[in-house]
Amino acid sequence: MDKKWWKESVVYQIYPRSFCDSNGDGIGDLNGIISKLDYLKNLGIDVIWLSPVYKSPNDDNGYDISDYEDIMDDFGTMEDFDKLLKEAHARNIKIVMDLVVNHTSDEHKWFIESRSSKENPKRDYYIWREKKDNKEPNNWGSYFSGSAWQYDEKTDMYYLHLFSKKQPDLNWENSKVRKEVFDMMTRWCEKGIDGFRMDVISLISKPEGLPDGEKSKDSLYGSSAACANGPKVHEYLKEMNKKVLSKFDIMTVGECAGVTLEEAKKYANADGSELNMVFQFEHVGLDDGENMKWSNKKISLAELKENLSKWQNGLDGIAWNSLFFCNHDQPRIVSRLGDDSKEFREKSAKCIATCLHLMQGTPYIYQGEELGMTNTKFESVKDFRDLESINAYYELTKAGVISEKELFPLICYKSRDNARTPMQWDNSENAGFTTGKPWIALNPNYKTINAKEQVNREDSVFNYYKKLIKLRHENEIIVYGKYELLLPNDEDLFVYQRILGNEKLLVCCNFSKEYRDFDFSEFKNGEVLISNLNVADITEKTGLSGYEAIVVREKLS
Ligand code: GLC
Ligand code: CA
Repeated sequence: MDKKWWKESVVYQIYPRSFCDSNGDGIGDLNGIISKLDYLKNLGIDVIWLSPVYKSPNDDNGYDISDYEDIMDDFGTMEDFDKLLKEAHARNIKIVMDLVVNHTSDEHKWFIESRSSKENPKRDYYIWREKKDNKEPNNWGSYFSGSAWQYDEKTDMYYLHLFSKKQPDLNWENSKVRKEVFDMMTRWCEKGIDGFRMDVISLISKPEGLPDGEKSKDSLYGSSAACANGPKVHEYLKEMNKKVLSKFDIMTVGECAGVTLEEAKKYANADGSELNMVFQFEHVGLDDGENMKWSNKKISLAELKENLSKWQNGLDGIAWNSLFFCNHDQPRIVSRLGDDSKEFREKSAKCIATCLHLMQGTPYIYQGEELGMTNTKFESVKDFRDLESINAYYELTKAGVISEKELFPLICYKSRDNARTPMQWDNSENAGFTTGKPWIALNPNYKTINAKEQVNREDSVFNYYKKLIKLRHENEIIVYGKYELLLPNDEDLFVYQRILGNEKLLVCCNFSKEYRDFDFSEFKNGEVLISNLNVADITEKTGLSGYEAIVVREKLS
């Protein structure tokens, strides 16, 4: 297998708004990030993925960009950005930028022009359609509730927005749009950034004729699923690769909603013709229910194993996996797959981390995951900041799909805001995140769960992550070894092997609270690489206690 730096790296995602506030306005910023680079260096990560820091009116917290080449006032200035890049590089940390080019903000100058008249040269930068029977051009719903079409009086036409109405979709069919985007990317690369995480990149090519989508029983709108992996997406990415990506030594990861294994082999093909890797979402969709993500269904471990193993085996040697459970769109994984009670929080956070970080692929840590941060407590709808949660709450309850009483706890459990509560630095007021009034309430558990308490405590979740990162840096088998699942049907134990040359790893994780027998005899000559209970020797070991995780290395003769 081809060796690459981005295969050997561990990425840390920063959601700038919630990371560290340097000037007391309650909003995290670039200088705040700079002040925490030594913390990240200590953790040992190689790459920072920065969620969007560009100019934005913040309808979707920066995922609605009004200027790709300037910095959001809340976050600082371009000088601050340059300083961040320089300071990160001085510590051998790379910076990957979020690239949001499926859509812009409606306040982007291209859209302001586009909307001004049918004859404007930028009209065709976006997707405009005439009314159909005096209604929307098709039945698509937006990911953030409501129709995916917004009527615009000025020219008596509709524009498409797969996300909020302040996020109009760019028209990738237009070669001028592609050129603008590629030139902008080139300027960022020339500035010295180290890669791109491409927001919903699987959605850029819309299906021919924009046909109505399927409408399920209770849904108010038709599905726009046909936009995922659309007809020309690979053509566009190959063009982007040829004109931009191939000219720089950068890493690229595509956020690919709706990607299948077969599609991923194209996006992330080892031939380097498109991207380095994709984020797929099947494993974090296993607990979807009747109302899609608004469900409290538990992920079945057997299904999770089957799914992740499919990706491990399916891409081996052909493409490359990214490994993640958390990001700014997902609830906290200890509260979802682990157990965030006092008894098991740290243990289950470490167990989940072991299971993910020992797989083949590039691991991503989302801010606070390395502390075992949990979901938060919302008292009412007023506590939500995220438009996805707020819109879904009103749309589904008003339409009578589900009652407020039933829906509220489901949104609390799955809301993206769980990931967006401020980073918990210490136990002082507002967790050391800000000296002002935080833009979103802190998780009240910061008094006990915080970085300061963990950095110098040897058995903390933080120090466990630090060990996992170090192990990956020191053991090629963790990066490149072949993956093999054991005990596929077991509902409690996630056990797999990694194999490279004359070495073998056994990774054993108990995802239940109960003790489980496990036969270690085949590995009894092995050496323990890491254990969340500090087990040093397995010769006498016959099982795993609740949420125990252990990794054993054996030399094959
Ligand atoms: C991606 C981002 C998400 C954002 C959406 C629209 O899914 O991760 O946060 O809301 O795209 O840009
Ligand atoms: Ca600030």
